Order: sequence, then C-alpha cells, then structure tokens
Amino acid sequence: MKKLIYIFGYALLLMHGNLHAQELIALDGRPGISFRGLSVVDDQVVWVSSNKGTVGKSINGGKNFEWMVVDGHDTRDFRDIEAFDENTAIILAVDSPGIVLRTTDGGKHWEQVYRNDSKGIFLDAMHFHNARQGAIVGDPLAGKMLLLATDNNGQSWKSLESIAPQVAEGEACFAASGSNIISLPNSAPMLITGGMRSRVFVGNRVIELPLVQGRNSTGANAIALQEGGRGKHWIVVGGDFSADSSREGNIALTKNGGRSWRRVHTPPFGYRSSVAYISRKKLIAAGTSGVDISTDGGRGWKNISTTGYHVVQRAKKGKAVFLAGGNGRLAKFE
Ligand SMILES: *[C@@H]1O[C@H](CO)[C@@H](O)[C@H](O)[C@H]1NC(C)=O
Ligand SMILES: *[C@@H]1O[C@H](CO)[C@@H](O)[C@H](O)[C@H]1NC(C)=O
Ligand SMILES: *[C@@H]1O[C@H](CO)[C@@H](O)[C@H](O)[C@H]1NC(C)=O
Repeated sequence: MKKLIYIFGYALLLMHGNLHAQELIALDGRPGISFRGLSVVDDQVVWVSSNKGTVGKSINGGKNFEWMVVDGHDTRDFRDIEAFDENTAIILAVDSPGIVLRTTDGGKHWEQVYRNDSKGIFLDAMHFHNARQGAIVGDPLAGKMLLLATDNNGQSWKSLESIAPQVAEGEACFAASGSNIISLPNSAPMLITGGMRSRVFVGNRVIELPLVQGRNSTGANAIALQEGGRGKHWIVVGGDFSADSSREGNIALTKNGGRSWRRVHTPPFGYRSSVAYISRKKLIAAGTSGVDISTDGGRGWKNISTTGYHVVQRAKKGKAVFLAGGNGRLAKFE
C-alpha cells in the first residue's frame, strides 16, 4: 500500500511537472505602456523596450525589472531592442526622426548612433547575427526599403542603399515585434513584408508567402530560422491584425528555403506577431489574441493562453523564454 502511495505521489508529481512545463508565468509588468522590443541575452539577463521612452532590464531571470525612461526621448516608441549583456544594448525608435541609441553602462546613458530626418522615415526592426554585425530595416520610401548595417556592435551604421530591395505599392514591414529582418553573414539581410503583398526577400530571390495579404493589416510579421536547419528551415507568422482571432493564412513553414511550403494541419489560434524556436521541434508563437505552442516543428499548434503578447523570444545563450505585450504585460514560459 505504502509503495502504491509512493507511486501515485510520483505520478502526480510527474503530471504536475508536465503541466508546469507548459505554463506561462505572469511577471510584474508595467501597466500603461506597450512592449514590442524584447532581447533575452541568457537565462538571467532580459531587456524590454516600449513606447513612452521606456526600457526595462532584469538581471535575475525576470524576478525584478529595473525601469528607465530614456533621457530626452520620453515620447518615443522604442519598437526594438538588441542587448548583448547587462551593460550593452541598442534601441531604435519608430517614426520621425529615425533614431538609434546605444548604451554601454546598463542604460544610465544613451548615445545617439544614427539619426535620419528624411520625411516619412520609419525604422521597423533590428537583428544581429553576432556581437559585431547587424542590420536594421525601415519602411520603403519611393518604393525602396531602407536597410542599414553595422560591423562594430552598432557604434556606427551605414545605409545599404545599393542592395535594398524595391517593393510594391502598399508593401512594407510591420514594426510589431522586431522580427521581420534576419542579419546574415556574407549576404544581404533576409526580410519579410506585409500589407498589399507579403513576401520573403532572401539573397537575390523574392518569394511569395502563402499568407493572407492585400490589405494594410495583413501579411507576415515575424520570421524565425531553425538552429541547425542550414538556413533552409524557416517559419513565418502573421495574419490580419484587424481580425486577430482569424486563423486564415497566419503561418508559413518550409524546410527547403521557401521552394515549397509544408502543410500545417492545425494553425496557430489567430494573428501572431512573433514566433520562436524553443528547441528543434518545439516552438512558441504569440499575438494579441493569445499564445500557442507546437511540438511537431510547427505543423500543429495548441493554444495555451488567450492573453495577448506582442513578442516572444528564447535566450540567445540559454533556455529561458520570455514574452512581452500590451499594457506592460510580461511573462515567462516554463
Ligand atoms: C535616410 O533615409 C533615406 C530614406 O529612407 C535614405 O534614402 C537615406 O539613405 C538615409 N540616410 C542614411 C545616412 O542612412
Ligand atoms: C488601411 O486601410 C483602411 C481601409 O482601406 C484605411 O481606412 C486606413 O486608413 C488604412 N490605414 C493605414 C495605416 O494606411
Ligand atoms: C483556446 O482557444 C479557444 C478559442 O478558440 C478558447 O475557447 C480556449 O479557452 C483557449 N484555450 C486556452 C488554454 O487558452
């Protein structure tokens, strides 16, 4: 009998462990602001950025965040952030003027490392493929995307005007989660677009995405590459943010670099603005209508929450997975 109880107790523990393994743990957030920038350096260091000039940093795995409003920029919307450790981070502000700021003292001071006053400028997102080299994408002006690149950890940026792609009328990038550009070594950055058209620009190829498109609220929002997928296993999420529970055309999955699209038997449960690989087969996606996970490489999804988040990311060096969203919501996936 005693043995049976032990076994039963162990089974309960296992079951609980299992449930616990798929839980979103809400963290103390910052009501009144909207996070779209998130950079998870490792299991301890996490940075977030938002509107109202706000940046937050945790150095203890999300238990506490230190909040700061960037001096002289308290009305700017910092839609993306890339952090390298607890001291160094780069933020970009959408809208005009386009600015990029960098700190090396944990956020006490921010230096302006790029500014562009062109009318209509709108920086969308940033990505680094190593500590030195990264790229930024901005919305098209006169039909040409704005591409910037750095090779000194963001201390200076140069325009890649000669290789920036030409796009269609009404085709642009959504500044939804900082994840529609992927900086690549020895090659032009990979871009995904939305709006009237939704496509992938990679190398000299332009690939049509099987996503809902044709309106200014539709199309691709985020792309993630599978580690070990030799750059050919991608997932793209999006949909229609003005109908965020619609599951139509909200995902595209390929394992041959976009030459063909895999069948998705159960798509995510609505518009999704962000997606991340937790491991080779396990993924998590988030959007304003909820959060889903996949354990089969993205072909089937299960919703785990109807609370909305804008962005989800796994640690660059580590296993921690964090989410950030509207009304200052923050969570950790365990
Ligand atoms: C400023 O933005 C305009 C419009 O996108 C672009 O043509 C120009 O190259 C940018 N200038 C710099 C220095 O990045
Ligand atoms: C999007 O399209 C709708 C309907 O055509 C229009 O009313 C709205 O102003 C557009 N929004 C933007 C941001 O272009
Ligand atoms: C999954 O989505 C459905 C609506 O499509 C909702 O009724 C249900 O509560 C969601 N499940 C979870 C765990 O959030």
